[in-house]
Amino acid sequence: GPRQAVTRKQKSSFRLTLVQMSFYRNVVWFIKGMREYTRAGYESASKHFVAKDLDVSVVGLSFMITGANSGIGKETALAIAKKGGTVHLVCRNKERAEAAREEIARKSGNAEIYIHLLDLSETRKVWEFAEAFKKEYSSLNVLINNAGSMVNQRQLTSDGLEKNFATNALGVYVLTKCLIPLMERSRDPRVVTVSSGGMLVKKLDTADLQTERVVFDGTMVYAQNKRQQVVMTEVLAKAHPKIHFSAMHPGWVDTPAVATAMPQFHQLMQPRLRTPEQGADTVVWLALTHAATANASGLFFQDRRAVSAHLPLAWTHSSQQEVQDFMAQLETLAMSVRPSVSSVDT
Ligand SMILES: NC(=O)c1ccc[n+]([C@@H]2O[C@H](COP(=O)([O-])OP(=O)(O)OC[C@H]3O[C@@H](n4cnc5c(N)ncnc54)[C@H](OP(=O)(O)O)[C@@H]3O)[C@@H](O)[C@H]2O)c1
Ligand SMILES: *[C@@H]1O[C@H](CO)[C@@H](O)[C@H](O)[C@H]1NC(C)=O
Repeated sequence: GPRQAVTRKQKSSFRLTLVQMSFYRNVVWFIKGMREYTRAGYESASKHFVAKDLDVSVVGLSFMITGANSGIGKETALAIAKKGGTVHLVCRNKERAEAAREEIARKSGNAEIYIHLLDLSETRKVWEFAEAFKKEYSSLNVLINNAGSMVNQRQLTSDGLEKNFATNALGVYVLTKCLIPLMERSRDPRVVTVSSGGMLVKKLDTADLQTERVVFDGTMVYAQNKRQQVVMTEVLAKAHPKIHFSAMHPGWVDTPAVATAMPQFHQLMQPRLRTPEQGADTVVWLALTHAATANASGLFFQDRRAVSAHLPLAWTHSSQQEVQDFMAQLETLAMSVRPSVSSVDT
């Protein structure tokens, strides 16, 4: 009847609004990216960098970097090794990890570089790794959640979780949560999470964490996961005031991840992409400097500056209820694959 017709009309206009909104966000994001996320964007932002911020020595402090065998993670590990830090490279492939370890040790002259083999998408293994690390080491000063990937088909991990979500969101949550007690006992503890400006096009979606209900689009799932990292960072910062948390965007960087997962974007943008060293700059700054901790915990950074985690007029803010719902779901999923609780202490 007429009542149904109105509902249908309302529904379709609502859907149209959503489409227009996501189109608006994508356009605004791309224009912003062309100005700020490119190599030219880095060069212009870096004119305001304070060189002496990085006059620090971190001899005696330890740093864990996930995905440290390539791209931004490897450059971050190298920069920290050059400052004298003990570096724990967390990688999923033995040969690639060993090649990176050798290169970092040779270029930095620092022998305190260690390899840990872990696939971040295997949530149960993330628990096991973090528990074992806590038993073996008496401190961890900085955790850098850098490993990330964009898988363009819907794949499930051995824990039955969608792979992008498992790697980029749940793996980061479990590793961070499990290491928090160790970091809280350590000096000047920090957690830096390499998110992405791509998250600006997404509002936190708590209804479909495993992407079961919509047509699978790897780019959009990745962007959602990167939004989830930013939300997680805000929540964990409030809950753990002894630790300084930050999330950041490295810019558009020429790395294997981009070449493989987004070949067209890579080909089109290649001359404008940042070097991995430029992409790592803000990660290194957040991990090492006093200046970084002058800003509050829980913020989102780009080129050494705390910036908004939302585009103007983009409707990407979440309610307290949505954030709590998301964190509760993460906790439930994390606990559902936690190995034998008796061996676990917090
Ligand atoms: N490049 C960009 O333009 C850009 C922009 C925004 C954000 N980011 C973020 O920057 C971070 C680093 O990426 P990148 O651009 O430097 O790419 P990359 O050079 O390909 O490095 C990605 C690293 O993550 C590791 N990794 C991926 N999945 C993993 C898993 N399941 N377990 C363990 N390690 C895993 C990779 O290991 P393998 O070598 O074994 O594959 C590699 O070491 C990612 O979080 C990415 O989302 C990059
Ligand atoms: C971050 O810290 C700098 C230096 O103290 C300050 O100028 C800036 O306003 C801070 N940003 C935010 C968002 O708090």
